Amino acid sequence: MDNFISYDKCLSEEEIRTLELQNSRLVSEHKAKMLEVEAKKHWDLFYKRNETRFFKDRNWTTREFEELLDDPSKTVTRTIFEIGCGVGNFIFPLVKDGLNFNFLACDLSPRAVDLVKSNELYDGVRVKAFQADVTTCNLVQETASDVVDIATLIFVLSAIHPEKFFATLKNIHTVIKPGGILLFRDYGLYDMAQLRFKAGHKIADNFYMRQDGTRSYYFSTDFVDNLFKKAGFEVISNSYVHRRTINKKENIDVPRIFVQGKFRKI
Ligand SMILES: C[S@@+](CC[C@H](N)C(=O)[O-])C[C@H]1O[C@@H](n2cnc3c(N)ncnc32)[C@H](O)[C@@H]1O
Repeated sequence: MDNFISYDKCLSEEEIRTLELQNSRLVSEHKAKMLEVEAKKHWDLFYKRNETRFFKDRNWTTREFEELLDDPSKTVTRTIFEIGCGVGNFIFPLVKDGLNFNFLACDLSPRAVDLVKSNELYDGVRVKAFQADVTTCNLVQETASDVVDIATLIFVLSAIHPEKFFATLKNIHTVIKPGGILLFRDYGLYDMAQLRFKAGHKIADNFYMRQDGTRSYYFSTDFVDNLFKKAGFEVISNSYVHRRTINKKENIDVPRIFVQGKFRKI
């Protein structure tokens, strides 16, 4: 079980108590199995309820990942592949910016993929979306091997069972060109959202069930480092980033911890 050691946050006594309480009642084995079997259903219902309203456009990406900016010395069109694209909050701002990319996008939820396809910037040629479970599908059959310059996992690996992280990364590895990049951003260990779970929500170490049946893992940079290296990536960067979630209308202003990394296919 956890030893409550964080590499980037000092836990208060109350937070340590919360983490101990989470261990007092775990999600039953049966329920945990059902959540895995029904992952697609839960994400599809999420998009049925929220449509395009939940996630904001991720306008920070070119600031944080300079790989996304056009290289004036290169005229070839690169391919970017967003895995777990949701409704396209990551890709469409890049399409709007007119960056020289072909965009591939996939998601577990058919409804999310339909919402991507109904975006006015979607054309099925320069931007192509398809439904796929990245933990089990053969991505090479969906695209081709070694065709992707930049793959992204933005708040997606956390939604996947930790026992499937390695297979997922290996699957993604097959479609990235040698020397190509995987950009990663996800929830960090002891992010405030992790510290809000009550007893009855914890499935496994740092892995929880939300009220709506979707799940979330909280990553340490050490864990990410080991995982990506084992899957055949070289670590370019991998660190905690501290941000705030602000919603003035709802009077919310809270600190967040994410892990952000760049990895190169060896
Ligand atoms: C938190 S959302 C992030 C969406 C998007 N990347 C963004 O930044 O707005 C997580 C997404 O991962 C997708 N997802 C979960 N498990 C998946 C799987 N096994 N294969 C593909 N996508 C998955 C969900 O359907 C959901 O759209």
